[in-house]
Amino acid sequence: MNAPERLDPLVTKTCYLDGSDPEKKREEIRRYFHQTFSLYESLFDCLACDDAYYTKATPLRHPLIFYYGHTAVFFINKLHVAKLIPERLDPRIESMLAIGVDEMSWDDLNDAHYDWPTPAEVLDYRNKTRDIVDDLISSVQITLPIGWDDPLWIVMMGIEHERIHLETSSVLMRQLPLSLVKPSPLFRDCSDSGDAPNNALLPVNGRRIEQGCSRRDTL
Ligand SMILES: [Fe+2]
Repeated sequence: MNAPERLDPLVTKTCYLDGSDPEKKREEIRRYFHQTFSLYESLFDCLACDDAYYTKATPLRHPLIFYYGHTAVFFINKLHVAKLIPERLDPRIESMLAIGVDEMSWDDLNDAHYDWPTPAEVLDYRNKTRDIVDDLISSVQITLPIGWDDPLWIVMMGIEHERIHLETSSVLMRQLPLSLVKPSPLFRDCSDSGDAPNNALLPVNGRRIEQGCSRRDTL
């Protein structure tokens, strides 16, 4: 299924999980999923060549081919564990692109242990994942508010996980050699410049504050 038309791909808003119209909420989450999934893919348009996918930006992280597929694998692995999809999509990709940031497991980051997929293979995997998640969002029963036991809770977790990696993958790209990255019309250079303002300290009255959130806030 094609992604819904996007007006401004950089502007998204996290969905509230409550509301009164389940069908409106379904479409809101479906749109948020596609927007995030597409935005993450757009980030990889900044890579200049296939070599850029396999060059480590830092020794403590996998190369970007891992992160390209990782966010899709996260959806499939979680939906499979929750028994919301009957079978895995590609067990080889799902085991290879699942875990990547344990800095104490040095051997896990040894490239000799990996036979990375090609960018085209990962894109094919991502396209299939997009269809599976879209089908699930489109067909699942919705009761509001969406809670921990609802299938769409897992979908929302997958979306927010991808948005975390939108930031971390962009950092890795900024650490690559310039020859491996190229300009993107979506992620433009910042043209703002000028003298820094003179900031002043403002008085704030002391008062009691509470940290954390109530259980209701997690619904
Ligand atoms: Fe992750």
